[in-house]
Amino acid sequence: MRKISQSATGGPEVLELIEAPDPVPATGEALVAVAAASINPVDIAFREGLFPMLPDLPFTVGWDVAGTVAAVGEGEAPFAPGTRVFGMPRFPKEAGGYASMIAAPAAELAATPEAWSDVQAAAVPLAGLTAWQGLVKAGKIQAGQRVLITAAAGGVGHLAVQIAAAFGAETTASASAAKHDRLREWGAVETLDYASEPADAKGARFDLIFDAFGGETTEALLPALVPGGTIVSLRDPSAGTRERAEAEGKTLRRIGVRPNGEQLAELARLGAEGKLTPEVARTFPLAEAGAAQTWLKEARPVGKVVLIP
Ligand SMILES: NC(=O)c1ccc[n+]([C@@H]2O[C@H](COP(=O)([O-])OP(=O)(O)OC[C@H]3O[C@@H](n4cnc5c(N)ncnc54)[C@H](OP(=O)(O)O)[C@@H]3O)[C@@H](O)[C@H]2O)c1
Repeated sequence: MRKISQSATGGPEVLELIEAPDPVPATGEALVAVAAASINPVDIAFREGLFPMLPDLPFTVGWDVAGTVAAVGEGEAPFAPGTRVFGMPRFPKEAGGYASMIAAPAAELAATPEAWSDVQAAAVPLAGLTAWQGLVKAGKIQAGQRVLITAAAGGVGHLAVQIAAAFGAETTASASAAKHDRLREWGAVETLDYASEPADAKGARFDLIFDAFGGETTEALLPALVPGGTIVSLRDPSAGTRERAEAEGKTLRRIGVRPNGEQLAELARLGAEGKLTPEVARTFPLAEAGAAQTWLKEARPVGKVVLIP
């Protein structure tokens, strides 16, 4: 099989395409012939050596994969060879996602719905699980709630807007102005340009805020949240944000995504019902993984960037 490997951390030039033996699926695992693998910002953090838990060198970055089960290990086999599957196995441990073959725990995969190509399915796992775990699990989203989603045209955000719409929320989505038509297509009833319109311009009106940019932006969103409301952030907020939220009677949750096959199946169900359509901005050959990561960082695309092994 082919895979991307790096023997040092650093810039995109550390990523090398190499040949390697196919992985062997252990008990409870599936061997997947990867048709598409998507890129997430965290892949770049691993490549650069900036993620707190790094595997030993050499390692292969990447978690999001979609393809077809080629073989199964011993034990229960929920997916027969030939089944189309998608997932983000093992995160944040090494999974070897930028590769033409991957061995993955079957419990961390789900069947790909007919409605999605493999390229679209590869765009879903990490971003989609983050949106699901943020909105549904941490945020306990309810029909009729007023929900604000930031970075709403990015990998996580564009899936979050569609999930919120599927739950019957009244969604305001924030992104740079050129992307606003897409936000409405995904189900946002209102759009905000974060560069010119503060989220609290119309007062504290959101029951739930999903801050898909996260980190330093979270504190400035607090005034837009009603007392008793919840704000979910994807990166560590500035010092003092949590205390301020508590003092205002608001809940702040900082989440870290984890693999979950059952939740992937929920996302697949939304896909089959036509309520969740992954957006792929561009594909690159696996050999151009470094250029693809740089493009994701610099072009600020709508949706996801996908590698084809
Ligand atoms: N905690 C977790 O488990 C977890 C999981 C997944 C992702 N993340 C993190 O969440 C973030 C989003 O991930 P992603 O995959 O959606 O990334 P992405 O596809 O690169 O999208 C991020 C979007 O943020 C927008 N943006 C840039 N600067 C902004 C600002 N100052 N304020 C608001 N929006 C801004 C950009 O669009 P426009 O500016 O054009 O609107 C960009 O498209 C990344 O930092 C990622 O590492 C964390």
